[in-house]
Amino acid sequence: MPLETEARAQVRALIADLKPNDGDLLIALHRVQHRYGYISREAMEVVAEQLDLFAAEVYGATTFYSEFRLEPPAATTVRWCSGPACRLRNGTGIRDAMLATLGLQTLGEQTADGRVGLTVGQCNGTCELAPQVWVDRTEDHSSRVVGQLTAARAVRLARALRDGTDADDV
Ligand code: FES
Repeated sequence: MPLETEARAQVRALIADLKPNDGDLLIALHRVQHRYGYISREAMEVVAEQLDLFAAEVYGATTFYSEFRLEPPAATTVRWCSGPACRLRNGTGIRDAMLATLGLQTLGEQTADGRVGLTVGQCNGTCELAPQVWVDRTEDHSSRVVGQLTAARAVRLARALRDGTDADDV
C-alpha cells in the first residue's frame, strides 16, 4: 500500500462512510470530483482501497462516464450554450471567436497555462439571454452568466480571462 499522504488522507475521509463493494462507487467518484474538480489517479487508488475494489474497476468506471474528469479543470471554464436559441443568434460565431481568441482548436480544450477552458454547455431555459455563456470559477465554485453576447463582446471576455484582467465588467 502506498504511503499515506495528506492528500490521500483527505480523500479517505471524504468517503469514509461509504460501504465496501461497488454499490457506492459512483457516489465516491462524484464526491471526489465535486471536491477537487477532477479525479486523480491517486484518488482512484484510495477509492479502490476504501471500497475494497480493484483499481482497474475504479479506473473503468471513471473513464466510462463522460461527466468525470481525469485532469484538473482550468481555473476558469467558459461553458458555451449549444442550444437552438443561442445558435439562432450567432452562437456559433461567438464560439468560434472565443476559440480563436483563446488559441484553442476545439471545445473541451484549455489554454496551456490552465487559466481558461472552453467547453460545451446545454440550454438551461433562460433563452431570453441568448446567446450566452457561463463563466465558472473552479476556486470558489462560482458561476456567472454572460448573456446577449455579441462576437465583439465575446472576444473582449475571452481576452480578459486569457490575460487575467478584470472580466467582470465585460
Ligand atoms: S438555447 Fe441557449 S439558453 Fe436556451
